[in-house]
Amino acid sequence: MKEQIEVTNQYVRSLLLNERTGHDWYHIERVTKLAHYIAEREGANLFIVKMAALLHDLADDKVASDEESGLKQVEDWLKSQEIPFEDQQKILSIITTISFKGGNGLPVESLEAKVVQDADRLDALGAIGIARTFVYAGAKGDPMYDPTIDVRDKMTKEEYRHGKSSAIHHFYEKLLKLRGLMNTKTGKQLADERHEQLEQFLKTFFQEWDVKF
Ligand code: ADP
Ligand code: NI
Repeated sequence: MKEQIEVTNQYVRSLLLNERTGHDWYHIERVTKLAHYIAEREGANLFIVKMAALLHDLADDKVASDEESGLKQVEDWLKSQEIPFEDQQKILSIITTISFKGGNGLPVESLEAKVVQDADRLDALGAIGIARTFVYAGAKGDPMYDPTIDVRDKMTKEEYRHGKSSAIHHFYEKLLKLRGLMNTKTGKQLADERHEQLEQFLKTFFQEWDVKF
């Protein structure tokens, strides 16, 4: 089991080391560490959690050419590792429910899935989450902030239609909502601190944006 985790670690590392979409190897490494920490405290199966955390972004369409072939790649990998069929199924189902667009919105069932989802969400919060958001926005060609869109409330349908967005928008669209979506007690505790970092950052950002003393 330890060996399978180690080999999978090397495999994912080699695939994602040069990835630049916010799903780079270091994201996977952090999520796997966070998932390990949460799993120990919540009594989840460590093997399932760590394997799913390592493989969780390979089926994402930002990484694979499409979700289906990404998922197939994960499936083939698990088969090649002599992992009990039941465990393969558990790992795959975690990846489909948390990362796969088709699975988005489906209730996350197993404790192991809840743990991996919490870990993934934590990496979108705090200082790292802030940094990732600006890297992502930059890569997409979005500005850091667009004051012509009402960011402090909600974007209008019209603004959505025109694909107007900014890094700061993403905080309101997604990041600030994540704390309320955490599944586990340990995840919630970690999210509280990281959420606080976002609030603090936004406060300072707008103060400096308005050049207020
Ligand atoms: P994951 O699959 O790891 O949960 P996503 O694919 O949703 O994450 O996003 C990867 C990173 O990029 C996250 O930190 C997320 O907050 C950020 N991100 C996603 N969409 C946007 C966006 N439209 N603008 C800025 N940042 C974004
Ligand atoms: Ni992820």
